[in-house]
Amino acid sequence: MNNTKEKTIEILNKHIKEKANLEHCLMVGYGMKGVSKYLKLPEEKQEEWFLIGALHDIDIEKYNGDINVHCLVGEKILQEEGISQEIIDIIKSHNDALKIERKETVENALFSVDGLTGIIRAYVLMRPDKEIKNAETKSIIKKFKDKTFAAAVSREEIRLCETKLNIPLNEFITAVLEEIKINMDFK
Ligand SMILES: [Fe+2]
Ligand SMILES: [Fe+2]
Repeated sequence: MNNTKEKTIEILNKHIKEKANLEHCLMVGYGMKGVSKYLKLPEEKQEEWFLIGALHDIDIEKYNGDINVHCLVGEKILQEEGISQEIIDIIKSHNDALKIERKETVENALFSVDGLTGIIRAYVLMRPDKEIKNAETKSIIKKFKDKTFAAAVSREEIRLCETKLNIPLNEFITAVLEEIKINMDFK
């Protein structure tokens, strides 16, 4: 493991205890890495995108359901962990309640990946084999189109990949899904 990845996992394990939460954070981390690979960003940036994704909900077990402080509690945690303010500001932009305009590609990617992982996780857990290795983009697209499936996940947010990132939906899903497949197991 490289330094950034090691450090990211260490911070995650320190602040997040529940399996479902940990899985969500890691999925967003690997999903972000997948998108950065798709965009052909240098390796160093790929690791940074992983960190941003993996740590985006670092206060998930500490903000007590008050959406108005989500990411603000996280900001303190991340500052104490020595994460740069630049990265913390990117992370904060994913909480709409803070009304921060998302201007950068990385911010828009985080917003869309966050939503998409909700559909991917629900889909994998629904499969009798719970095997992400057998999940295909076309199955995720089918679930994406079925509004009753994982209904709380905003399709609009995910679709922003097309307008904000210029990545067609199916390619976006593949980029996220394939990187999660390489790194994670839900069994
Ligand atoms: Fe969040
Ligand atoms: Fe999240």
